[in-house]
Amino acid sequence: MSPGDARPGALPGPDRRTFVQGLLGVLAALAVSPRAAAAGDPPPPDAAPILTPETRASLAAGQVRDYRKQGDLFLLADAGGIYALTSICTHRGCSVRWSGEGFTCPCHGSEYDRLGAVTHGPARLPLRHLAVQEVEPGGPLRVDPAVTVPPGTRL
Ligand code: FES
Repeated sequence: MSPGDARPGALPGPDRRTFVQGLLGVLAALAVSPRAAAAGDPPPPDAAPILTPETRASLAAGQVRDYRKQGDLFLLADAGGIYALTSICTHRGCSVRWSGEGFTCPCHGSEYDRLGAVTHGPARLPLRHLAVQEVEPGGPLRVDPAVTVPPGTRL
């Protein structure tokens, strides 16, 4: 295309090309880091359900099991029953760790209590509670990271 071919009001070729390349770069960056959500946005749900070897009988009140390697989650039990929390920090998507009292995020210092509520920012949103069910009565527990349940939900 020569300079004389440009339509009235159209950007000259190199400027339009630069703009399109920049736009594609931004879109590619967003697609590559889905957990790099804006502050306060919950990260997208994970995909596949996780089958654990745990059963209702194997988790006593107060116990915590770390399933971050299998599926970015923790299984916990309290007096009300068993529940699961995502390990994905709601600030920027880092993996939180069990501290013995609650959860801490190594990236920017957010802290959550054992129910996933924020006790120290910068995170503003609680950890998601995930659906837990028995595969069969008395059998192993399956956690579905794609299904968020209300915080009081227990198995
Ligand atoms: S990712 Fe920033 S505090 Fe967890």
